[in-house]
Amino acid sequence: MQVVRTVAEFREARRRLPAPVGFFPTLGYMHEGHISLVERARRECASVVASIFVNPTQFGPNEDFSRYPRDEARDLAMLEGAGVDLVILPSVEEMYPAGDVTRVRVPGLSEVLEGKRRPGHFEGVTTVVAKLFGITEADFAYFGQKDAQQLLIIERMVRDLHMPVTVVRCPTVREADGLACSSRNVYLSPEERAQAVALWAGLRAAEAACGAGERDTDRLRAVCREQIEARPLASIDYLSLADEQTLEELHGLVERPALMSLMVSFGNTHLIDNITLHP
Ligand code: PAF
Repeated sequence: MQVVRTVAEFREARRRLPAPVGFFPTLGYMHEGHISLVERARRECASVVASIFVNPTQFGPNEDFSRYPRDEARDLAMLEGAGVDLVILPSVEEMYPAGDVTRVRVPGLSEVLEGKRRPGHFEGVTTVVAKLFGITEADFAYFGQKDAQQLLIIERMVRDLHMPVTVVRCPTVREADGLACSSRNVYLSPEERAQAVALWAGLRAAEAACGAGERDTDRLRAVCREQIEARPLASIDYLSLADEQTLEELHGLVERPALMSLMVSFGNTHLIDNITLHP
């Protein structure tokens, strides 16, 4: 695996890689969920490239940019073990050189749910992902379904800007009790970690209710909420049942597949998860 830190070095190495090239962008601090994306890219592409970059523009002023977990040596060992050919670890100055002003914004989808709680977050994500797509010139890019809103926004950006890359949706990888794998899970105390199963318990309860014939959107949200409120350390930031494509909140009866998504806080740690309900 070749490791580079500049765009010029990346482009030089990228020229020698056989197509198709699969790309896996990451903030680092790898976990099983990340590795499953790399493994999928490995199966589907002749070459796999990755980026490790804690992108400052997607963190708000009071968020965890400076304390976001980082472990470069471990990340590189995991990427190499999973079969990555080339990885770029750019500096902030490399990605946002002096005078950098261009931003990519997907209005509407970026302003609801997580975007409402984290103003500017998705503009930071789409800007850095657009830069990374430009640098890597990948044929396929792999993203996890845990960040369902991010995925929808990136798909819309790719479609609207005619970017020559295919976005591949990958299923959420979960820990044994159902908690979605996330680099932020390390922030949880043992008590919080035990109660963090609430997110998946709530989503599964709503799925079971839907499977048993419940169609009332308020009732489905309530079934999920009850599970979370049963855990005293959990506090709901949002709980949404929305149209899968537009993310418009649903009212009345659910009649087609819908995205139930939520953000739940344990102290200063905000966890997200989602499930598609199939009425
Ligand atoms: O999902 C992430 O890890 C990040 O938002 C991404 C896509 C790597 C952009 O920084």
